[in-house]
Amino acid sequence: MNPISIAKALRARGVLGLNGRNGEFMLPYNARSRYPLVDDKVLTKALAARHGVAVPELYAVIEIPHQIRELHARVAARHEFVVKPARGSGGEGIVVVTGRTSEGYRAIDGSTYTHEELEFHLSNILAGVYSLGGEPDKAIVEYRVQFDPLFERVAYRGVPDVRIIVFLGVPVMAMVRLPTRKSGGKANLHQGALGTGVCMDTGTTLSAVQGTRIVDIHPDTGNPVAGIRIPHWQRLLEIAARSYEITGLGYQGIDIVLDRDRGPMILELNARPGLAIQIANRAGLRPRPWIR
Ligand SMILES: Nc1ncnc2c1ncn2[C@@H]1O[C@H](COP(=O)(O)OP(=O)(O)O)[C@@H](O)[C@H]1O
Ligand SMILES: [Mg+2]
Repeated sequence: MNPISIAKALRARGVLGLNGRNGEFMLPYNARSRYPLVDDKVLTKALAARHGVAVPELYAVIEIPHQIRELHARVAARHEFVVKPARGSGGEGIVVVTGRTSEGYRAIDGSTYTHEELEFHLSNILAGVYSLGGEPDKAIVEYRVQFDPLFERVAYRGVPDVRIIVFLGVPVMAMVRLPTRKSGGKANLHQGALGTGVCMDTGTTLSAVQGTRIVDIHPDTGNPVAGIRIPHWQRLLEIAARSYEITGLGYQGIDIVLDRDRGPMILELNARPGLAIQIANRAGLRPRPWIR
């Protein structure tokens, strides 16, 4: 097919493109004044907690260079924790620490960090290496989510997350993102994670995409990705609906993780949710009845 007939075919299927998302959804429904609430994960956490929705517990916020060396003391009692840029995206700059070595820390992808190397990583975060627009940033140190055993067969090491697109408080489309060896323990599609579609009525996973390829089997665990019933699905839909109250953003993407012991938690909210969720669901966003 030539590019013009591809564009026509996509339009006929109701696939939302970048211009449509920006011009018809973000611009009219997302007030600019509300972006800062979701662009800074420290603020999002506080906001969600105030609305009674669980978030991974915050252990520390590191804001200025001289606090960097305090990190080791702040996490002295913990074996596992996550370091991430407050204004990061796409999984960039996130280190999921799963244990200790004699000289420092072990990360979920098998790499190790000496104390100095983790300090250097933190100074890069503060300098804005991973932040939106390259502006100076803060580093968050938080609880490491323990994934629900249900996902054991289809997640390679990291924690899967459930992305839900919410339009004016109504959850319209969802996807489960499954970490792979390639994605290094993170569930971001651009890092190589799989995205499975989700049936909105039952919360059951459908087939997946990795990049632009349709996949039925998880490449690292060899198990089928479809047919998994997401636990607490009703609660997830409720949390998604609540996210509109929390931020006032009419069109947003909410990322929820399921913790084995603590249940569903909001990981983050996005004012500019990506469009690949449509590929994962093999369906366009426009025909969803609630969005017209
Ligand atoms: N506290 C955590 N515990 C375990 N895994 C995490 C945690 N925070 C992030 N991750 C992993 O990293 C991915 C990206 O995290 P997220 O906070 O959504 O940042 P980004 O804005 O970069 O997408 C998550 O989907 C998850 O797989
Ligand atoms: Mg995310």
